[in-house]
Amino acid sequence: MPVITEIEDLRQLARRRVPRMFYEYVDTGSWTESTYRANESEFQKIKLRQRVAVNLEHRSTAATMAGVDVRMPVALAPTGLTGMQHADGEILAARAAEAFGVPFTLSTMSICSIEDVAAHTKAPFWFQLYVMRDRDFIERLIERAKAAGCGALVLTLDLQIIGQRHRDLKNGLSVPPQPKLANLLNMLTKPRWCLGMLGTKRRQFGNVIGHVKGVDDMSSLGAWTNQQFDPRLNWGDVEWIKKRWGGKLILKGIQDVEDARLAVETGADALIVSNHGGRQLDGALASIEALPAIAAAVGDRIEVHMDGGIRSGQDVLKAWALGARGTYIGRSFLYGLGALGEAGVTKALEIIHKELDLTMAFTGNTRLTDVGRSILVPGTYPLPGV
Ligand code: GLV
Repeated sequence: MPVITEIEDLRQLARRRVPRMFYEYVDTGSWTESTYRANESEFQKIKLRQRVAVNLEHRSTAATMAGVDVRMPVALAPTGLTGMQHADGEILAARAAEAFGVPFTLSTMSICSIEDVAAHTKAPFWFQLYVMRDRDFIERLIERAKAAGCGALVLTLDLQIIGQRHRDLKNGLSVPPQPKLANLLNMLTKPRWCLGMLGTKRRQFGNVIGHVKGVDDMSSLGAWTNQQFDPRLNWGDVEWIKKRWGGKLILKGIQDVEDARLAVETGADALIVSNHGGRQLDGALASIEALPAIAAAVGDRIEVHMDGGIRSGQDVLKAWALGARGTYIGRSFLYGLGALGEAGVTKALEIIHKELDLTMAFTGNTRLTDVGRSILVPGTYPLPGV
C-alpha cells in the first residue's frame, strides 16, 4: 500500500481500483478538455506572499458556509454516479464529511437515494437538484429532500443539456454498466470494486429509478440526459423552485457577471462560480479566473462560493483570498473514495485541511477569517473587470 500524502496519490490508486468507464467519467472533461485543465493550472499562476516571525501557535480554518459552521470552507460537491466509484459511495462520503465537519452534497444523479443517505447520517446534508421535464418528479424530489431534513438545495443551472464528453461516449457509459466485453474484462481486473458491488443492492440511480414513469434503467447516460433534462430551464423556474423549497438555496454554475447579477435578484443565499469541473462548456474561463469579477460585482448581496480545479488546500486559500466564502471538491474526494472508500474521503479532507492550515500559516495568518487578498502577490491573479 503506497504512502498517501497528497490528492495525486489517491488519484493514482483510484485509477488502479475503479473500472475504467467510471474512473474516466470522473477524470475527464468535455471537448478538448482545455477548461478542465485550466481549472487546475490557473491556480498555479497565483503566487503567495511569504511572511515570517508571526506567532502561529493557535490557528483555525473554521468558517461558515451558507450559515453552516464548517471546520474549513470546503464542501463535498454533488457528483453523479458516486456509488459507482465505490459500493455505497454516497453514504460513505456523507459519513466522512459529517465526521470531518464539512457539508456533503447529494446529487440528483446519485446511486444511493436521498432517504438512504438520510438513514445513514445524522447531520443535515445538502441536496443538488437537476430540473427535469417531468415537473411532478421535481416537486416530489423537493418534498423528499425536505422530508430528509436537507439543509440547503443546490440548484444546478449549467446542465440543461450535456457537454460533449468524448471519453464517456467512447466508453458507452451507462448505469448499470452495459455487458460490453471490453467493460466486463476491465471490471474483472478490479476485484475489490466487484466484491463491493456484489455486496450491495445500490446499483441504480436511487433517486430516479422507481420514481419516474417508464424509466427502468439507462442504456446510455448521454441519451437519457438528453431526454429527461429540461432544456427550457429559465430564471422563472428558479423563482418557482425557491418558493416550493422555502429553505436555503444555492445556485450552481455561474460563470458570467451578468448571470451573477440575475442570481442576486432571485434572493438566493449563495451562488457557486462553476464551469461544472470543465465538463460542460469547454473554452469557458477557469473558475478561479471568473471568481474575482463576480465577487466584485455582487459584493455582499449574495454569498459567493466556487468549485473547479481544487486539488489542494493551497487552492482553497487562493479562492478564499479572491472572495470565495466557500469551495467544493468533486474529483479530489472521488479519487479518495475510489481508492479507499470512506477512509479515502477522510484522507482527502485531511490532506486538504493540512495544506490549507500550513499555507495560511506561511502567509502569516492564524485565522482563515482574517485572510484577504493581501496574501497574494499583485499581478499574479486576475483583477475584477480585467
Ligand atoms: C454530472 O453532473 C456530470 O457532470 O456528469
